[in-house]
Parts: sequence; structure tokens; C-alpha cells
Amino acid sequence: MTLFERFGLTALRCLDPEVAHGVALTALGAGLAAGPGPVTSPRLATRVFGIDFPNPVGTAAGFDKNGVAIGATLRTGFGFVEVGAVTPRPQAGNPKPRLFRLSEDLAVINRFGFNNAGVAALAPRLTASAGTGVRGVNLGANKDSEDRVADYVAGLTTLYPDADFFTVNVSSPNTEKLRDLQGRDALTSLLIQVIAARDAATGPRRPVMVKIAPDLSDSEIADIALAAADSGVDGIVATNTTLDREGIRSIHRAQAGGLSGVPLRDKAQAVLRRLRLETGGAIPLIGVGGITSAEDAYARIRAGASLVQLYSALVFHGISLGARIACGLDSLLERDGFSNVAEAVGADVPRVEG
Ligand code: FNR
Repeated sequence: MTLFERFGLTALRCLDPEVAHGVALTALGAGLAAGPGPVTSPRLATRVFGIDFPNPVGTAAGFDKNGVAIGATLRTGFGFVEVGAVTPRPQAGNPKPRLFRLSEDLAVINRFGFNNAGVAALAPRLTASAGTGVRGVNLGANKDSEDRVADYVAGLTTLYPDADFFTVNVSSPNTEKLRDLQGRDALTSLLIQVIAARDAATGPRRPVMVKIAPDLSDSEIADIALAAADSGVDGIVATNTTLDREGIRSIHRAQAGGLSGVPLRDKAQAVLRRLRLETGGAIPLIGVGGITSAEDAYARIRAGASLVQLYSALVFHGISLGARIACGLDSLLERDGFSNVAEAVGADVPRVEG
């Protein structure tokens, strides 16, 4: 961490967490943390679902909901960003306070409820960021929507020209009944409709992911793998935030919302591993949840993730953590004799002979 970043983080800790995040994003967007661009090396460069990534470490959804700092984030070293969640119409989200820093636990609880400026505000920012790197968009549904499937389709269609990939987010705990869309039939039907909209769009084929919760049983994970295979989705992002509070010490532990950060790490890793077993490596996976170090990222990759993402750790360790994780990952791959990160994907998961 740079000295400047250390001072910045100390100052931000004195502010309300939501205000602090806004200040940090504004500073980032103004170029205060700019570096030369995504970290890369022959070992880190990887092609996943038809997209070339300079390195496999990205920002997770929610970090830059409105796409105000896309190029600036990529210049700090990340290999890709996922902006959003964005909904067709702008919405205010839940009443404040709705973001809590759990410093003792290195965790965060949020119940934002998809506060965002809407697709019309995001579209020109995506257009302006063309050429800066790989940009995914996390799609959400408006809280008062009568037809949630139509919302995902509308988001994809409007932003199609300017995003590199899309993530259908059915796993936020902060929008009532959204997680019900993870059931096998509902999910298959939703994904088939989103993919049909993708196939009908003009321009290059953009991959579509689905993002799932960590609070799922093995049989629910198996159902999601089947829905993914049946619908032809290009990848699965695992996981979103958890409703679990086991082992949390902070006074904020009873706050409603989704928990992320270090306490989520083992659960997210277990879901990812289970998903890899269920899919047999046929569908690329993006691992997210509690990743704080190069070792965490490497473990997630060895459990089956082709790419990884982080958010909460940036709150505690600064935006330069992305570059530090990418560089550390490069060293770990070299240490273990991998010539490219793709060779390490799923290295710890037993192969099922067909
Ligand atoms: C999130 N996350 C999230 N995920 C998503 O799919 N759409 C979203 O809009 C948001 N918003 C959001 C806001 C805040 C404040 C946080 C902390 C998280 C979830 C995020 O992308 C990620 O899946 C989890 O936070 C787990 O990763 P970390 O934070 O432990 O690295």
C-alpha cells in the first residue's frame, strides 16, 4: 500500500461508510490512484468465454454501480471491472444507513437495494470507457417491476453495444424475492429469455453470466448447474453476499443485509468448488467472496475459478490491492511451475472420468 493510500484510508475510516465510498470513487475517477494500466504477464493473460483478459483479477459488482471510474479502476492494475448493478429505471434504494463497516471482522454489511442511476446514465459512461479494458455489466431488476425478466432483457439490450459481458444478478439479498429466481425452473426460463435477447442483438456475441448466492445447499447448487447447462449461459459468478452471521463479532452483526469480506471466504470457496464438481469444468466460473490476498485468489483458481473478483477487501486494504494480488498470483503460478493461469484452473478438484 502506498503512503498516500494509507493516509487516505485512515481519513476515510472517520467518515460514514457510504460517504467514504463516494469520496474514494470520486478521487479514483479524478485520477488520484492512476497507474500504468492492468497488470499483465504471459502467465496472467487469459482467454475466458471468448474475451482476452490481461490478468484474471477484477472488481466485483457494487464497487462502481454507475460506472463513474471505469478507466481509472483499470489503470490501477485490475484485469477487468464489473459495473452495476444497474436497473432499467433509476432507483433510490433502501433508506440510509445501509452500509456498515465491520472492522474487527474485516467485513461489510450492505442493504443498498440496487440504488443506481439507471441504464440511461450508465450507457454514455460505458461508451466513453471504450478501449480502457474489459468491462462487464451487472444487471438488476427494479424493486417495483411487474416483470423482472423484462428488466434483465431491457438492461442487456440497452447496454449491449458497449459492454464486454453481462451478469444476471439473481442473488442480491436486498431485493425482495429476487433470490427465488435461483430455483431450477425459474432460472432456466429467465436465462433462456436473456440469452434469446442476446442472440437477437446486433454486434459481437457478448457472454452472459449468472451470479448466485452463497447460501445454497448442494442440491440447489446442482440445480443451478443444470439450469446453466440447459440455458447455455456462458459462465457462473459465485458468490454474492451472505445472510449468515456465524462467528461475527462486530456490533453491526445484527444489521439486515448481505455480509461480505473475510468471513465469507470459506463459504464462497466451498460453493465454487461444488459448482466446479457439478459442471465438470464445462462452464467457466468466476470466483468472488472474501478474496483478500494472492493466496486467496490462487486457491479460488485451483478450486475451479477462471477469473476472480473482489470488493470488500478494497475497503480495508486500498485500491492498489488488485495490482498486488495480480503480481502475487504471477509469483505463485511461477513457483508451482504453471506457464499460464488457465493451467491452474481446477487443479485441486478431482477430475471425473467420463
Ligand atoms: C455488493 N455486491 C453486489 N453484487 C451484485 O451482484 N450486484 C450489486 O449491485 C452488488 N452491490 C454490492 C454493494 C456492496 C456495498 C457490497 C459490499 C457488495 C456483492 C459483491 O459483488 C460480491 O459478490 C460480494 O461482496 C463478495 O465479494 P467480497 O466483497 O467479499 O470481495
